Amino acid sequence: MISKKVDISRLEASRRGHASTYSTRYFEESVPKYEVPEEGMPANAAYELVHDELNLDGNPALNLATFVTTWMEPEADRLIMENIGKNYIDHFEYPQAEVIHERVVNMLARLFNAPEETAFVGTGTVGSSEAIMLGLLAHKWAWRKRRQERGESCEKPNAVFGADVHVSWDKFAKYFDVEPRVVPMEKDRFTLSAAAVAEHVDENTICVGAILGTTFTGEADPIKEVNDLLVEIKKKQGWDIPLHVDAASGGFITPFVNPELEWDFRLPQVKSINVSGHKYGLVYPGLGWLLFRDHDDLPEDLIFYVNYLGDEMPTYTLNFSRGSAMILAQYYNLLRLGRRGYTRIATNVLGNARYLAERLAGSGKFEVLNTAQLLPIVTVKLKEPAKFTVFDLSHKLRERGWIIPAYTLPPNADKIAIMRVVVKENFSRDMADLLYDDVVKACGVLEGTDTEALAPKRSPRKGHFVN
Ligand SMILES: Cc1ncc(COP(=O)(O)O)c(C=O)c1O
Repeated sequence: MISKKVDISRLEASRRGHASTYSTRYFEESVPKYEVPEEGMPANAAYELVHDELNLDGNPALNLATFVTTWMEPEADRLIMENIGKNYIDHFEYPQAEVIHERVVNMLARLFNAPEETAFVGTGTVGSSEAIMLGLLAHKWAWRKRRQERGESCEKPNAVFGADVHVSWDKFAKYFDVEPRVVPMEKDRFTLSAAAVAEHVDENTICVGAILGTTFTGEADPIKEVNDLLVEIKKKQGWDIPLHVDAASGGFITPFVNPELEWDFRLPQVKSINVSGHKYGLVYPGLGWLLFRDHDDLPEDLIFYVNYLGDEMPTYTLNFSRGSAMILAQYYNLLRLGRRGYTRIATNVLGNARYLAERLAGSGKFEVLNTAQLLPIVTVKLKEPAKFTVFDLSHKLRERGWIIPAYTLPPNADKIAIMRVVVKENFSRDMADLLYDDVVKACGVLEGTDTEALAPKRSPRKGHFVN
């Protein structure tokens, strides 16, 4: 996070003090918050101080806002801690991490049905955002090279994608100077349509983006239809426009539970795919992957070779240094779970998400926009008329620790406010019931029909919570 301007009066106050209950015994003077203290402190004091402050954070297990993994097995935790000090970029010093990285790239390329006759090309990244930027950058380079070779103008590259994309797509357009041609949503359609893409592409389109699991509703863009359109355009107009699939959240679900759905390298115009290892890849943040269909889709010009770490080493990432641990944790998960294990988990989370969707629909309070058919994401809006908003409800549920975001959809569906629950591995059916009960209770409190606080009642006899 970029540092905010600090309010001077707060700064002064902070200079006067920062002491937590457990840590006061270690200090005779207060510890400044916004400048480096002159003297250090004992390790246990520093630990307590930071640890205690972080108690203000939400409980990751109740964080239904994030797609990102909040729990891994103890063996994975051990592996991570054993390797936490290894910089992935030091290939010469830690060659085995690079070997394992290559294995994961190969596993994922095969999972996404890359043609076997090509060399599998891809890279681990900090997340899907970096992967998207690198993928689109490669397409920008390839587009420019093609046009330069034909003596055509390279002044006005554009990328076509829906308003349903994650902010990383807009970032790419701004950071890398590409015109974003954003296809708006409709009032009753929250994904792209092939017909709308046809109206936006031209000879300067470096690539089209389609999403397998949008951030907003968890639905998929019609990837096959967009591919077929691009095949047709290539035939008729000669524009070879690549399709980049953003499978940040769908890439580790669909191949396991819906393998017949064609969204990946089986489609000829799909030239690159990103997936977040730290979402349904079930690894902690930050880990993403970028896969290319073919070696030729990654221009050689974008690969840098450095020799100052002891060997001639190729790199295609935005950042240089990064930890190895999450890459190794991804390999651990792939070995540990195998296709069957990932399928079992994906089936369970989908089952729990659908169960929650059914219960919320049955409450009569909500219209369920996404019933988790594709991804374990449930989105609802309030049935009208309602005496409160989804923002009030989201806020109320926070009293019980549930972290569930409410937001409006992008243009032209921005009059619609929804709430989204991302169901992850640690969200059991029992938790779905507890959440459902709290949602109904919160609605009652907000409507004024239930006056009690949201906190659970304690059974006087058994000491158990009664909801
Ligand atoms: C569809 C989609 N693309 C890209 C991203 C960015 O992913 P990351 O957080 O891994 O950078 C997200 C994050 O939620 C997403 O949902």
